[in-house]
Amino acid sequence: MPTVLSASHLNKFFYDPAKFQVLKDITFDVQAGDFMAIVGKSGCGKSTLLYLLSTMDTEYDGEIEMAGTKLTGRSQDFLARFRNEHLGFVFQFHFLLPEFSALQNVMLPGLKLGKYSDKEVEERAMEKLRLIGMADFARKPASKLSGGQQQRVAIARALINDPTIIMGDEPTGNLDRANGDNVFSIFHDLARKGQTIIAVTHDPDFAAGTDRVIEMSDGMIITSHENKGQ
Ligand SMILES: Nc1ncnc2c1ncn2[C@@H]1O[C@H](COP(=O)(O)OP(=O)(O)OP(=O)(O)O)[C@@H](O)[C@H]1O
Ligand SMILES: [Mg+2]
Repeated sequence: MPTVLSASHLNKFFYDPAKFQVLKDITFDVQAGDFMAIVGKSGCGKSTLLYLLSTMDTEYDGEIEMAGTKLTGRSQDFLARFRNEHLGFVFQFHFLLPEFSALQNVMLPGLKLGKYSDKEVEERAMEKLRLIGMADFARKPASKLSGGQQQRVAIARALINDPTIIMGDEPTGNLDRANGDNVFSIFHDLARKGQTIIAVTHDPDFAAGTDRVIEMSDGMIITSHENKGQ
């Protein structure tokens, strides 16, 4: 499988309140179709790493390349366009627009990309909602959906532009067991269909169901192993 993400020798410091190295020589590759979990104790640097990988934080040493494009040193405009086209995000708190319908929320990144007509974006959005079992709720305002339903809409939104990689930071962190399992199985199905996924998680069952687990401690990768028999 081709490499879709390569992180080379990432080092990052925070300077406030005192100089402190939060990421230490992080190097790894992700292949197309990988379903990868990043685990480790609270404060070890998982979210910080994900901010770097998602191009949201550009203050680091080292190099990040994604989909054959070097991202280190690019302008904010370039990175904003790249993110919209290549990355889908699913966070612990979904950040849907509450007044907008599920369908409108899913459509937004598609309209912003400007690659398809409004009509096509709507059709694609409906298709993504169908995929995650939320088609019946398309017209409902996001504020009137349950937490689990909102998280599924957030996944559909992350999928709208057929991203190279879906990145999640605790995508099940705010959900009860049943909804968390449901979100996990959506990720698992997407991964089986070839979607590349990187998810930070505290949930050992979630991590055990992925293809590969990277464990961090104190800003370093301490183990990286494949999960067999998925
Ligand atoms: N903007 C910041 N300025 C200074 N220190 C920060 C900043 N953001 C995070 N940190 C520190 O960097 C370390 C790593 O934080 P990070 O959020 O990456 O941890 P994490 O592994 O995601 O933890 P959790 O599992 O609790 O989400 C922590 O010690 C945190 O206090
Ligand atoms: Mg975190």
